[in-house]
Amino acid sequence: MNFKTNKKLDMDRLDPTNVPKHVAIIMDGNGRWAKKRGLPRFAGHKEGMKTIKKVVERAVELNLEAITLYAFSTENWKRPPKEVEFIMKLPSQFLDTYLPELIENNVRVTTIGHYDGLPEFTKKAVQYSVERTKNNTGLVLNFALNYGSRSEIVDAVKQICENVKQDHLNSDEINEELISNYLYTNQLPDPDLVIRTSGEQRLSNYLLWQVAYAEFYFTDKLWPEFNHDAFDEAIIEFQNRKRRFGGL
Ligand code: FPP
Repeated sequence: MNFKTNKKLDMDRLDPTNVPKHVAIIMDGNGRWAKKRGLPRFAGHKEGMKTIKKVVERAVELNLEAITLYAFSTENWKRPPKEVEFIMKLPSQFLDTYLPELIENNVRVTTIGHYDGLPEFTKKAVQYSVERTKNNTGLVLNFALNYGSRSEIVDAVKQICENVKQDHLNSDEINEELISNYLYTNQLPDPDLVIRTSGEQRLSNYLLWQVAYAEFYFTDKLWPEFNHDAFDEAIIEFQNRKRRFGGL
C-alpha cells in the first residue's frame, strides 16, 4: 500500500506554506452513508476507515503537525452493543493494515480519552502502535477514543486540586497555560481548524477548551464521502479566513 495520494495539489488555491498545524475532525455520517445505500451501519464505519487513510495521506503530504480524529465519544456507549463492538475493532483493523505505512511516513500514533474503559483488544492494538511509533517525528495521528471534553476538564481540575492539597502547586500558579498542561492534549498545539462532516453543526463535547480560537468548517459530505479534495477544500477555506485571536 502506498501512502502517496498522487492527487496533485491545486497550488493556485492552496498555499502549502500556510497550513493549519493541528486539524481536529469530527467524523460524522457513517450510518447515513450506509442507509442511503441500503447497507448496515457497520458498512459505513468500514468505509469511514478508508477516509481516515486518505486524510492521513494528505496531512503527511501537507506537513501538518497533528490531526485528532473523534473516533469514539464517551456518549457513543449508548449505541447498540453490536455496533459498539464493531467500532472498537476498527482501531486494530486500521492499525494492523496501515502501521507499516505509518512508520514509513514517520507518523506518530497517539490517543486521548479514558483509555482504561476500552476493551482489551482495542487497548492492545493501540498500545502496540503507540509504542512502535513513539520516536517518530512527523505527523501526530491522534485518536480520540472513549473521549469526552468535560470529563477531561474534570480530571484536570481534580489533579490540580490534589497537587495544591499536597503542596506541589500554589493556587496562584493556576493559569490558562497550566490548565492546558493538565489536559490529555498537553503535547499538541491547540487545533487551528475543526472539521465536521455530515451537515451537523455542533461540537459534541469535543476539545472544548482547546478549540477556543479554532476556525470551524462544516460540510454536508458524509464522512465516507470525504476525500483528498474535500480535505483540500477545508484547508483552502481556512486559508481564506482572517484569524484575529480577539484582536483587530
Ligand atoms: C459517526 O457516524 C461515526 C462514529 C461514531 C464512529 C467513527 C469511527 C470511525 C470512522 C472508525 C474509527 C476507526 C479508527 C481507526 C479509530 P455515525 O455512526 O454517527 O453516523 P450517522 O450520524 O449517520 O448515524
